[in-house]
Amino acid sequence: MAIDKKFINQFVNVTVKAASAAYNLVGKKNKNAADQAAVDSMRSELNKIDMTGEVVIGEGSLDEAPMLYTGEILGSKTGPALDIAVDPVEGTNFVANNLPGGIAVLAIAEKNNLFNAPETYMNKIATGKIDKGLIDLDFTIEKNIKNLSDFKNKDMSSITACILDRPRHKKIIDQLKDLNVKIKFITDGDVLGALFVSDPKYDVDIFLGIGGGPEGVLAASALDAYDCHFQGRFIFDNNHDIQEAKKMGIDDLNRKYELKEIVKGDSIFCATGITDSIILNGIKFNNNEIMSETLVTHKSSNFKKIIKKVNFINE
Ligand code: FBP
Repeated sequence: MAIDKKFINQFVNVTVKAASAAYNLVGKKNKNAADQAAVDSMRSELNKIDMTGEVVIGEGSLDEAPMLYTGEILGSKTGPALDIAVDPVEGTNFVANNLPGGIAVLAIAEKNNLFNAPETYMNKIATGKIDKGLIDLDFTIEKNIKNLSDFKNKDMSSITACILDRPRHKKIIDQLKDLNVKIKFITDGDVLGALFVSDPKYDVDIFLGIGGGPEGVLAASALDAYDCHFQGRFIFDNNHDIQEAKKMGIDDLNRKYELKEIVKGDSIFCATGITDSIILNGIKFNNNEIMSETLVTHKSSNFKKIIKKVNFINE
């Protein structure tokens, strides 16, 4: 089964509205308020869609979040049963500080097809389309970079690796430096970071490192539409997370997940820019018009596009 194409516009509308709501709080140094505005909007718009949508990745458990909590059922409950992953503001620091890279993002799959990711870190690796077995989370950095440079017929010094600039990545960064790889550091926002591998125009050959697990699932759904390579391994390094993982039915805490295990079957991904980024322009207001750009993918119809929209204030 595939998700009907008619849903594309409806979900684009959801992230456009969420991004517009968060835009009002750009540069206001209040990331919680920006997130809340986007959460409220996203929840109310998702509730208008004819579906029985279950939030599998949201704002946390019911006791942590009253809205868009994991397990919340959204929609008119008359349409298809869908899994929904949301990040109403991905890059809350960017939005609070008026910096590039804030997006409102969601992914949809048919019921039980989107990985119910725990709120932990995930070790991730992503590249464009490659031969099977070439790049692997279990290989050394050197082997992955060497394999990629051979595959792309590029010198290692012209390979670009994107990674979150974090002290936890010191070892990887030192290894990349030793290999003379070009590094593209990002300060936040590893959904867009991972998406840089989807198109040569972004000039990133490999994305790697540890970021949020939920963000990994969201990125995987878009990368799937681009036939990219993605693997992730959750990191459970404290008792609370280990217990939570067990409750979620994750028995093998060390398991490496392939893209097709994270996102099964068909999916729709929508990311609307709140602030500008390399991939998407952010929201722009002009008199009573709101202009937006949304990156949309729909796996089964091979739809991959940046949709520009003009909405009217109070629409
Ligand atoms: P928020 O938008 O929730 O602040 O997340 C931003 C982000 O940079 C994600 O893109 C990334 O996966 C995660 O935080 C990394 O976490 P940390 O800042 O703890 O390294």
